[in-house]
Amino acid sequence: MRICTVVGARPQFVKAWVVSQALEEAGIQEYLVHTGQHYDYEMSQVFFSELGLRSPDVNLGVGSASQAVQTARMMTAIEDVLQTSEGLEGVLVYGDTNSTLAASMAAVKLGMPLFHVEAGLRSYNRKMPEEINRVVTDRLATLLFCPTHTSITNLESEGITNGVVFTGDVMFEGVRRMSDSKQKSKGRGQLSNIPSEFILATVHRPSNVDDTATLSEILSALGDSGLPVVFPVHPRTAHQLEGLPMPENVIVVPPVGYGDMIGLIHRAQTVITDSGGVQKEAFWLATPCITLRDETEWKETLRGGWNQLAGARKERILSALKNRPTGEPEIDDPGNASAIISESILGRAN
Ligand code: UD1
Ligand code: UDP
Repeated sequence: MRICTVVGARPQFVKAWVVSQALEEAGIQEYLVHTGQHYDYEMSQVFFSELGLRSPDVNLGVGSASQAVQTARMMTAIEDVLQTSEGLEGVLVYGDTNSTLAASMAAVKLGMPLFHVEAGLRSYNRKMPEEINRVVTDRLATLLFCPTHTSITNLESEGITNGVVFTGDVMFEGVRRMSDSKQKSKGRGQLSNIPSEFILATVHRPSNVDDTATLSEILSALGDSGLPVVFPVHPRTAHQLEGLPMPENVIVVPPVGYGDMIGLIHRAQTVITDSGGVQKEAFWLATPCITLRDETEWKETLRGGWNQLAGARKERILSALKNRPTGEPEIDDPGNASAIISESILGRAN
């Protein structure tokens, strides 16, 4: 069997790392398309080099643009690839980015089966571009690979039950694999001078960074957090930070590789983030997390107070810092998502 996988943004590379290996073990050939949505070395190539991900068969080089222009450019280019590559029996997409949406639309309009990893997640906040991408992709998908029980319930409430498969989370496998590996960084290069007790912060959602007042409020909370803050800065955020004063305790670094990131999350006293993936990784690594949003798609991480929703408001962030969870997070992931995904795809072909 031969399928096309479409990736393009940072969170998709770490998911594909896990699933591609399982597909290969199951004898499924992949034609790997990179849309070029993310293109800086630290946002893309570092993951291929560090994780040993096979180089993409094609990079569409789409780059940055407005929502519609970026998605349209991707659709046009992906349609061309799907029409010219021989023997493809389906298209595999991950998560909720514009690369996901574009590949989904191109695939189903050519009558190809669509396989969606991380199906059924909802924030119920349509101001997020990702929510639109998820809703459309799930409506179109042939097989919907659900990482959590909540995601299955979300689909049921939309009347989607056909092709729904509970898998667990491929990112959980990634974290376990990286935690066991020597690649998990104990701090190299510029990360080697980080104090033993620190907060790790990441922020990149348009609702948090595109408005200067909101971004300043977050910076002010980091400034008053009482600990050094390691802040790997996403390029969207880097543009918005230009000209804003940075609190002295905040150590700004470029985006880091996956091993460094897992090492930092593991060692941090607390994680402050608006990332979907980082919320989950903090939970699995038993590091308390404060999420800079008013809702989360990953409700399981709220158990036991391991993840607290604080919006982008300084008082709520500082108060959440004082509320530390006790014991261990209650993890109920079966831990074999990638095998279930590859078997389900193979089963569809037979
Ligand atoms: C995208 C995804 C988001 C995901 C995030 C992961 C959508 C709608 N959003 O958001 O769900 O959480 O990726 O990181 O698909 N830029 C660079 N270099 C790069 C990439 C981006 O400089 O390599 C800058 C450009 O100025 C660009 C901006 O970052 O306009 C935003 O990039 P884009 O891919 O449009 O959205 P993200 O915010 O990265
Ligand atoms: N990540 C990374 N380096 C960074 C920031 C994030 O390797 O500097 C990893 C992170 O550990 C997670 C993934 O990238 O595995 C999440 O990506 P991001 O936060 O960009 O997107 P989201 O999950 O919010 O869609």
